[in-house]
Amino acid sequence: MTAAPVTVRVPAKVNVQLAVGGRRPDGFHDLANVFLAVDLYDHVTAVPADTLTITASGPGTDNIPLDATNLAAKAAIALAAHHGVDPVVGLHITKDIPVAGGMAGGSADAAAALLACDTLWGLNTPRADLLAICAELGSDVPFSLVGGAALGEGRGEILTPLDVAGPFHWVFAVADGGLSTPAVYRECDRLRRESGAGDTTDDVPSPVADPALIDALRTGDPYALAAVLVNDLQAAALSLRPALADTLATGTDAGALAALVSGSGPTCAFLAPDADTAAKIAVTLTASGTCRTARPAASPAPGATVVPAP
Ligand code: C5P
Repeated sequence: MTAAPVTVRVPAKVNVQLAVGGRRPDGFHDLANVFLAVDLYDHVTAVPADTLTITASGPGTDNIPLDATNLAAKAAIALAAHHGVDPVVGLHITKDIPVAGGMAGGSADAAAALLACDTLWGLNTPRADLLAICAELGSDVPFSLVGGAALGEGRGEILTPLDVAGPFHWVFAVADGGLSTPAVYRECDRLRRESGAGDTTDDVPSPVADPALIDALRTGDPYALAAVLVNDLQAAALSLRPALADTLATGTDAGALAALVSGSGPTCAFLAPDADTAAKIAVTLTASGTCRTARPAASPAPGATVVPAP
């Protein structure tokens, strides 16, 4: 056990392919989910404490729970249980990733808390065990630990790392208020039933990763990537939040190569040909009033990392 605070930096993600299969008997959906980490970061600091406490600062933190239901708290509790120790730690989350935005902010904080507690408590948990705990915490949590680019199968938690060149330049348009991930999956199911296609694994073909997309990541070609970006949850997010269509159109008109809803939304992601164009698209989107703010960012980015002490 070290007494010095431990801070972990953890990236946001965008799904460059989110292929959603049918609803499984356990309620989850099989995915072919190509994650790409982007350089918008949350930081989680762990300090010694007598009980488990969570505090948070940054935009949108009024809306996150500061009790044992916070995914970062669940991460500390799961790691402590794995080792048979008490989950006593003070966790502070400094948020920059949009809250409930479809960029895996909550998952990122869980992965960061896990690594911060492991370091603070001097546990040296093997990487494979950390990844298994991540998978129990949520479908996107393992990727937040790993970063870079990866294909997520199963419900998203079975990861295969992918080669990725870059940088790819993005703009993220952050909406006012979040969207609930379960609500967006439910809407996707409802739309599939309404269309007559059905929504179970018997009705929907198994999702598969697009080889052209994996190739575009490997070669770092934004034009090739723009041609194949796809999100099967986009129609559901637009159905719940129709105004996102204006956001997508504004960024496309401003010079984006492609636009899509990030994960379950409501953040919209725009792929730009270069950093200068990304900066201009961000200015246009922010001025347009079709989003709360727009942020340029680049990918890939590394996964959760302990920040060296100053
Ligand atoms: O795994 P996670 O806790 O992040 O999932 C949140 C919710 O999103 C699930 O309870 C489920 O409603 C939905 N989900 C899904 N299929 C997935 C991942 C998430 O239906 N593959």
